[in-house]
Amino acid sequence: MPRTTRSAFVTQPVVAALRLFDSAHAACQHRLEQARSRVAETVRFWDAWRGNPRAVGAIVPSGQGLARAMTAQIPIGKGSILELGAGTGAFTRALLARGIHERDLVLIEREPVFLEALRYEFPSARVQSLDAARLPATCMGQGGPAAATVCGLPLLNMGTRTQMRILAGAFAQMAPNAPLFLFTYGPYCPVRRQVLHRLGLKAVRAGAVLANLPPAGVWKITRRGFKPISRSAVAGTPGSGH
Ligand SMILES: C[S@@+](CC[C@H](N)C(=O)[O-])C[C@H]1O[C@@H](n2cnc3c(N)ncnc32)[C@H](O)[C@@H]1O
Repeated sequence: MPRTTRSAFVTQPVVAALRLFDSAHAACQHRLEQARSRVAETVRFWDAWRGNPRAVGAIVPSGQGLARAMTAQIPIGKGSILELGAGTGAFTRALLARGIHERDLVLIEREPVFLEALRYEFPSARVQSLDAARLPATCMGQGGPAAATVCGLPLLNMGTRTQMRILAGAFAQMAPNAPLFLFTYGPYCPVRRQVLHRLGLKAVRAGAVLANLPPAGVWKITRRGFKPISRSAVAGTPGSGH
């Protein structure tokens, strides 16, 4: 056998083995990075939960199954997406995986610990430090009206008036036929019937995620007709509120 062929015969398997080792090492590093960021995310979540358990409303960040169910019907390429209570970014990541551009995301959050992490992870999104019950008309920036809203807020913990303000504020930012998706751990839609009625909205069940901790239901809220929602429908709302 000529010398060059003999040396290639020896070096080729070594090079192939080194390449294999390299890619296995890179995959391990990637998994390690992912695990590290999940731990950091969970620590942030518990920090926020300890500070204000009612506002966070869950004991663990939303799982991937729930995130997929919440974003499965989000229209792509139809405009910006509004996310209320973006928290750890679980739904935000699912929106990106679904094909929404980061620059088309408007993320609303109130907890400083989440805001900082959201700005770091999604630098091209419009991350806004706002109370979702007091959304200004300008909250979508140049990106409005929104093609859909994803709501991660703990609506069950909120009074009628707060729910009314949140829903009215969100639908005021959205295109006439745009849907809002929300989730709940209870068996029924967490938006009170009087809120839906007063704002001319309807709710339909859009999915169930039994594998989530705890199991969750997804609801889709849309307008009954194309009548714009007036802010006066919110004023003077009876019932408890924050
Ligand atoms: C169930 S948690 C987060 C959901 C998110 N999908 C996750 O897994 O991280 C609800 C989030 O809503 C935020 N939140 C609660 N009330 C809010 C309000 N009035 N305005 C803005 N954000 C609010 C909380 O800070 C929290 O991040």
